[in-house]
Formats: sequence, C-alpha cells, structure tokens
Amino acid sequence: MPKIAVIPGDGIGIDVTKETIKVLETVKKVLRLSLDLKEFDYGAEKYLATGVTLPDEQIQEFRRNYDAIFVGALGDPRVPDMAHAKDILLGLRFKLDLFVNLRPIKLIDEKLCPLKGKTIKDIDFIVFRENTEGAYVGMGGIFKKGTPDEIAIQEDINTRKGVERIIRYAFEYAKKNKHTKVTMSDKSNVLRFGHDLWQRVFYEVASGYPKIETNHLYVDALTMQMIKKPEQFQVIVTCNMFGDIVTDLGAQLQGGLGVAASGNINPDGVSMFEPVHGSAPKYAGTNTANPLAAIMTGSMMLSHIGYLKEASLIDKAVKNAVTTGNATRDLGGSLGTKEVGDYICQRVKEYAKK
Ligand code: NAD
Ligand code: IPM
Ligand code: MN
Repeated sequence: MPKIAVIPGDGIGIDVTKETIKVLETVKKVLRLSLDLKEFDYGAEKYLATGVTLPDEQIQEFRRNYDAIFVGALGDPRVPDMAHAKDILLGLRFKLDLFVNLRPIKLIDEKLCPLKGKTIKDIDFIVFRENTEGAYVGMGGIFKKGTPDEIAIQEDINTRKGVERIIRYAFEYAKKNKHTKVTMSDKSNVLRFGHDLWQRVFYEVASGYPKIETNHLYVDALTMQMIKKPEQFQVIVTCNMFGDIVTDLGAQLQGGLGVAASGNINPDGVSMFEPVHGSAPKYAGTNTANPLAAIMTGSMMLSHIGYLKEASLIDKAVKNAVTTGNATRDLGGSLGTKEVGDYICQRVKEYAKK
C-alpha cells in the first residue's frame, strides 16, 4: 500500500492540510483506494518546545519507506530566522535531491483571472523551477556584523549538472506533452558567470530537441510578458530564486495563492508536494484560508504515484467548487476553509457513484 508522510507544518498549513486529508480519506473510501497517510508534527511548535526541526534519520526513513510527502506550509513569527522551515522545507528539497519544482499555472475559471479578456485557454503553462541550487544553498556569511563595515555575502551556486538536469527535464516534459516551445529565463546580461552557464546549457540541450522552439527572456522581461501576453507560454524553465518569484506572479494569474499547487520532484526517488503559498500566520485557525491549493496539490501527488483517475475526480470537484462559487473569500465566495473541504468531499462522493 502506498505510504504518504504528511507534515501540516505551521499556520494555515495546518488548516489546509486538514481539509486535504479529509478529501484524500473520502477518495480512499469511495474509490476503495489503498493509501496510508501518516502525520508528522514537525513545525514551529515542535521546534520551540524541543529544538527539533527535521532529523536526518527521519528524512532517510521518508526516502526508504514512503512513496510521497505532503507538506502544508512552514513559517511562524516566533521563529523569525525561519530556522525550522529551512531545515524542513529546504532540508527535504536538498537532502532528497528534489531538483524539479513543478508549478503549473492554469486558469480554472475566467472570472478568477485579474487580466482583462483572458480565457482559460490563455493561461495554461508550467514553470520548472530549479530547486536545489542558486542563492538557496546558504553559502556565504556575515563579517563585522552590526558595525558600519559590515559585509554580507550570499553566493549564487550554479552547477553544470544542476542546470543541465532541470533544463533537460523541461524539454523532456515538453516533448512528452507535445508542447512546441520552451522558454528559459535568466539574467545573463548581468549575472555573467552563473547565468552564462544557463545560456550555454540551454542551447546545447535544446539542440537535442529540434522540433521544439527555444525562447529566451531575461527575467524582468518575463514578468512583463506574463502579464502582457500569458498565452505565449507553454513551458518555462528558470533558476531557483526567479522561479520562486515568478510563480507567485503566475499564481495570481490563475486566481491567487489559494489555487496554486506545486510538486518538488526527484524523478528517481520520493517526491514532496506542497501548495505554493506559505503559512499566512494572520489567518491561521480562522477558517478563512482557501484549502483548494492544498487539495489540488493532493491531487497532483495522487497522479504522481499513479492514481490518475482518483486525481481527476478531485480536479473535477475543485473546478466545480470554483465555477459554482462554493469557495472562500479570496475567490469571491463566502464559505470557510472547512466548508470548502466538505463541499469537495461531497462532490467526490457524487462523482464516484457515476
Ligand atoms: P503567504 O503565502 O503565507 O501569504 C501571503 C498572502 O497570500 C496572505 O496574507 C493571504 O492574503 C494570501 N494567501 C496565501 N495563502 C492563502 C490561502 N490558502 N487562502 C487565502 N489566501 C491566501 O506568504 P507570506 O505572508 O509572505 O509568508 C508567511 C510565512 O510563510 C513566512 O514565514 C514565509 O517564509 C512562509 N512561507 C512558506 C512557504 C512554504 O512553506 N512553502 C511558502 C511561502 C512562504
Ligand atoms: C516557496 C517558498 C519557499 C521558497 C520559502 C518559504 C523558503 O517561498 O516554496 O515558494 O522560497 O522556496
Ligand atoms: Mn515562494
């Protein structure tokens, strides 16, 4: 039986994970799905009480005995340096070598798009964010801290292997899904070393895919084009930091962080799934957070482990909730977190009978 490790984390991560588990349990029941969900309490509360973030042995156990990991969100104002989140979130990404951060930008319903005149056909692309390198590796330091002579250095790491594997993954995805264009975005006009590597590797890898058109945009131009003409994009590949930034922008194109799902993939190992949004501490426990991003992430996780039919049932229920306005305030609805979770469960039950 597939085993899933669930880390609700902090803030609204806890609220939205609860609804996702509810939906997954419903799917299990109505479709007789075999799936073992095991919850883990790693997060700010545990860290503050015990100093434990996410032990290495736990990560090894995930690698050995689990089929996927679901994470709600991490971040708590009582831990301003994000020490626990760094170990948990980045720890999982780095130590499980989850080099593909896959973030689909797909509009479910026209009314959710803030751009004038755009339809669901216009906003439908996927961002592949490099997930194990760049400015995220934490190389650097501070010298003469707190003095007028302070120096802060944060290195941006780009390796041949790291850049090549994410670019190749994007092309392979494009080929498999019959996309005709891959856009790579960097800042090679300024980052003359690290992003020069991105340039060279991009065109080199692209030469192995003669039927796929290549497109390059500096990241500032990419943000502009994502708003001006989002329909031009099919597949975007970029570095860790730019991928983080442009996927929040992309999330807004599809209705906001409340409906943005993501996967952190190791094609040869265990993968981790989390909504794009954070722990939004202000809304924690208020029954206002939109659980759809987490529920859609749950669906993405199910398809990843091979439960495609079950995943599509959840997606259908999500689409129904959005189009009928059975949604939270961020989408213009008036339901609470729990009520949206209940609504999705009801629809899933109904669709399963058909
Ligand atoms: P955030 O994503 O938590 O929230 C930003 C705003 O987006 C919220 O104030 C809210 O208006 C909206 N929003 C986000 N998720 C929503 C949802 N499900 N439903 C409705 N509205 C939603 O980003 P932030 O405020 O910059 O960060 C808060 C904390 O979360 C920080 O500690 C940050 O580091 C952390 N964070 C964690 C993750 C993660 O765990 N993957 C991702 C981003 C931020
Ligand atoms: C995300 C988040 C994380 C990131 C933070 C919380 C470390 O913003 O998953 O998008 O920057 O990757
Ligand atoms: Mn982010």
